[in-house]
Amino acid sequence: MRMYDLIAKKRDGKALTTEEINYLIDGYVKGEIPDYQMSAFLMAVYFQGMTKEETHAMTMAVAHSGDMVDLSGITGIKVDKHSTGGVGDKITLIIAPMVAAQGVRVAKMSGRGLGHTGGTIDKLESIPGFRTDLNQKEFFETVNKTGLSVIGQSGNMTPADKMMYALRDVTATVESIPLIAVSIMGKKLAAGSDCILLDVKTGSGAFMKSVDDAILLAQEMVEIGERAGKRTEAVITNMDVPLGKNIGNALEVQEAVAILKGEGPKDLHQESVNLAASMLHLAGKGSLEECKVMAEKTLTDGSALSHFADMVKAQGGDETYIQHPENFKDTAFHYEVKAQKSGYITHMNTEEIGISSTLLGAGRETKESIIDPAAGIVIEAKTGDMVKEGDLLATLYANKEELFEASAKRYANAIEIKDEAPSKQHVIFARVTRDGVERFD
Ligand code: URA
Repeated sequence: MRMYDLIAKKRDGKALTTEEINYLIDGYVKGEIPDYQMSAFLMAVYFQGMTKEETHAMTMAVAHSGDMVDLSGITGIKVDKHSTGGVGDKITLIIAPMVAAQGVRVAKMSGRGLGHTGGTIDKLESIPGFRTDLNQKEFFETVNKTGLSVIGQSGNMTPADKMMYALRDVTATVESIPLIAVSIMGKKLAAGSDCILLDVKTGSGAFMKSVDDAILLAQEMVEIGERAGKRTEAVITNMDVPLGKNIGNALEVQEAVAILKGEGPKDLHQESVNLAASMLHLAGKGSLEECKVMAEKTLTDGSALSHFADMVKAQGGDETYIQHPENFKDTAFHYEVKAQKSGYITHMNTEEIGISSTLLGAGRETKESIIDPAAGIVIEAKTGDMVKEGDLLATLYANKEELFEASAKRYANAIEIKDEAPSKQHVIFARVTRDGVERFD
């Protein structure tokens, strides 16, 4: 077999066999296939796409390119969840304890933030003492004791994805639905849970800018998961507006705690209950409606909050910050962004708002950047709200005053204010299961 022939085959729009896909993934990880040939192949996939057979075969090859996590040391059904990434997305912090409070295990590996999106690991590490580098024994013990644990990726999981993602990033081949599906599902299958909930975000702060593309990606991923024997569902959620009010690591933990206490913004509450219900449903706890009631109950009876505090304590964190989020250290400086004119907020460019938060020190511009856990943004007015000239749009938090100028400019430019009210904002657009697509108006 020659890589040259596989590139030519894909360039000409033909489908590769499973054997050929295994050859190219294996050869690439072993260093036998050079980056320039893999780049050409990825670009051919970008233009020609892949069949369902090819996408499945490549996902399995990526999943098996490194360690496959064996979660059999954890009792009960394990449900995983993946978000395609967004701004203000603290959903994992909320729904993992909600689900655990109903007896379904969450043994989750999460990532750090990069670019305009945040990462769950950075958020958790803003809690003093919290460890995300548990070894396997500690990880299993934490899940068996508290029902949940969230750690960073360790060991040699999916090296093929790490290598291909880095290459796609510099060869303009990230935006390919089959390649994104392979990348996400390869990692999810290697992570070892029994069921997978996918939160596919759409809008100006997401990879998938349109609902239709988000549905196509979701369908592809659900099919891969189900074919691999994992119950898999996807929910298409709105990332055309930041989720909740807080952006930034410690600020997002504080908002997650508010939701766990039955308080907090309505959009975040609604999305959390729906996603937690989907996870419970996947785990066989009942109908979706029954699972929504179960999910709500964990917020009103305090059980989700106490599961979160138990996990924080078990992973070395100071759980008093969960009971008293006001203990989180504030930044030295605040800056208020005010409305330049009166009218309705008709659009928020969410990627730009994510960048505005990164400029305050809340996110990473490169993998090596050091983040400021206290930095970020608290939003006071969102899409659909009416504001008067001079009203507060958002408060920026930073420990260096000189960071405000660029960040505030970016934030203000990201907000569109017009005379006409915009149409109603969706929180959830659709649900994708093995049985089909259900759209919500
Ligand atoms: N997230 C991933 O993990 N992989 C992609 O290709 C895109 C988003």
